[in-house]
Amino acid sequence: MPVTGDECAVDDLECQGRQLFLNVPASAAPQALWCSQCHTLGDIANGAIGPDLTNIAVDAESRKPGTTAREYIRESISEPEAFLCEVELCTQGLMTASVTGGLTDEEVDLLVEFLMSATAATEMQTAVGDVVVPTTPTDTPADAPAPAGGLVAEGQALFMAAPANVGPQALWCSECHRIEGLAEGLIGPDLTDIGSVAGTRKPGTSAEEYLVESLRDPDGFIPDGVERATPGLMTLAIVQDLTDEQVDALVAFLLAQQ
Ligand code: HEC
Ligand code: HEC
Repeated sequence: MPVTGDECAVDDLECQGRQLFLNVPASAAPQALWCSQCHTLGDIANGAIGPDLTNIAVDAESRKPGTTAREYIRESISEPEAFLCEVELCTQGLMTASVTGGLTDEEVDLLVEFLMSATAATEMQTAVGDVVVPTTPTDTPADAPAPAGGLVAEGQALFMAAPANVGPQALWCSECHRIEGLAEGLIGPDLTDIGSVAGTRKPGTSAEEYLVESLRDPDGFIPDGVERATPGLMTLAIVQDLTDEQVDALVAFLLAQQ
């Protein structure tokens, strides 16, 4: 139910705040992801990248000792890197100053008031029986398919956790990508049957060539018509330190996802 700016009356600050939460304003630089794509909020947003904000006005009271809810929410927006929350999806390095840095003071005020009042509205709705079900990330199921062994098994291990040679990463393959029964990432495309479809992505490019390219030059080609193929998220910095052997193992693993 995104509303457009023109639908908000000049004195309807709640509407203007919701509008800012849902859509990137002109004051902010172009963004790969915005508030409503990273956060869940009642029934207006269901992002699974950052923490659920459905009850933030209440939750924020206890986040940081000596800080009121309003102060905490304001700081989260104007200085997102100053304090890291300790609930689900509080991943460091995702909500950066480059996301919110361009917002004017007035826009930050609107967002703070919107988040304070959105909680009250959600509580009211819940109280009258209109139950709001926020999406919560599911745990990786234990019944993950057994890897075929050798290179594929090595590739699976590399997919699940960053190896020591690539350095600490805010997010890794399995956190951004979903593979049925194995990984539940919802930031990048679903790779459940990437082995079958990789050969159709780019004319004249075989499945194997396409997968090598996806890992060696992730910004080089963005697939068309693929869900969550957002440019600028899988960057070279994430994969550049993988060795040729590690890329081979990952490609063997991905080719096995039919
Ligand atoms: C790229 C994803 C992303 C975007 C875009 C984003 N956030 Fe966040 N946000 C996060 C993550 C991850 C955290 C937790 C880590 C942290 O505090 O930096 C967070 C933390 C927060 C918190 C504190 C939550 C808590 O439970 O303590 C608030 C409030 C918040 N964001 C509001 C916003 C608003 C408003 C916007 C839009 C102007 C926005 N965020 C844009 C990912 C994002
Ligand atoms: C920060 C999130 C993120 C991380 C980490 C990440 N990816 Fe991606 N990946 C994406 C996004 C978004 C796309 C789509 C845009 C693009 O092609 O860059 C993508 C595209 C792909 C594609 C092409 C998918 C298609 O359907 O054509 C493959 C294959 C892939 N990633 C594999 C990996 C592997 C293997 C890793 C770990 C080494 C990894 N990704 C790490 C977000 C991520």
